[in-house]
Amino acid sequence: MIGIFDSGSGGLSVLREIIKLLPRERYVYYADNAFCPYGEKSPEFIRERGRVITDILLGKGADIIVVACNTATAAAISTLRKEYQNKFIGMEPAVKPAALSSESGVIGVLATAGTLKGSKYLTTKGLYEDNVKIVEHIGKGFVELVEAGLLDGPETEATVRRSLRPLLKAGADRIVLGCTHYPFLKEVISRISGPDVQVIDPAPAVARHLLDVMTEDGLIREDGSEPFPDVELLASGDVSSARKIFETFIAG
Ligand code: DGL
Repeated sequence: MIGIFDSGSGGLSVLREIIKLLPRERYVYYADNAFCPYGEKSPEFIRERGRVITDILLGKGADIIVVACNTATAAAISTLRKEYQNKFIGMEPAVKPAALSSESGVIGVLATAGTLKGSKYLTTKGLYEDNVKIVEHIGKGFVELVEAGLLDGPETEATVRRSLRPLLKAGADRIVLGCTHYPFLKEVISRISGPDVQVIDPAPAVARHLLDVMTEDGLIREDGSEPFPDVELLASGDVSSARKIFETFIAG
């Protein structure tokens, strides 16, 4: 069984890609929405939530845990790997594919404050910033919009436009979605950015990595799963917003 968590519904953008590659597995998804957003919370707080959620997911029978949250990956994954026996798969901001494919030589990264301060992001950025200009911006208000199910409309457009402005003004032709909530706003982001800008969601790469690790560890299920998809949704707050996104983007 695959355990997967995020501060809220964002990690469902990762689950969506995982299910495409591993449709027969059983999943338990935990939305920590009573404590969402994680973006401005301290690393200590996020680490503690990571422990609590890991215990719940392991208690449900998870063999492997996907930290489907860039902010929690930055704050907690190395601690969790030290403290628990099972494997953890984390998020990776897709700076590399963006940097290698950019034609304008400018890439934009949208993420939370916690992710942009994380050592993993800073190290990755350091590898590419001699070759491309990297412009960062916090997707202010994006997480709240997704949690409220406001994935399009005038308010969403105005919020997205505000955060995209500095990236587009700088000439970015690649925009990295460094927070798992943001892919649910991808349509609006792409519409505002225009056809010359590629918006990059790292979730498919994370799903491929999980498939490789599970194949290597012999964790792939041979028999089929019923019902399809076999996902249990849990939340620290009200589970209904995660359920709605799940039904719209995964089960529907
Ligand atoms: N979806 C999360 C991420 O990938 C967390 C966003 C938040 O709670 O601020 O960073």
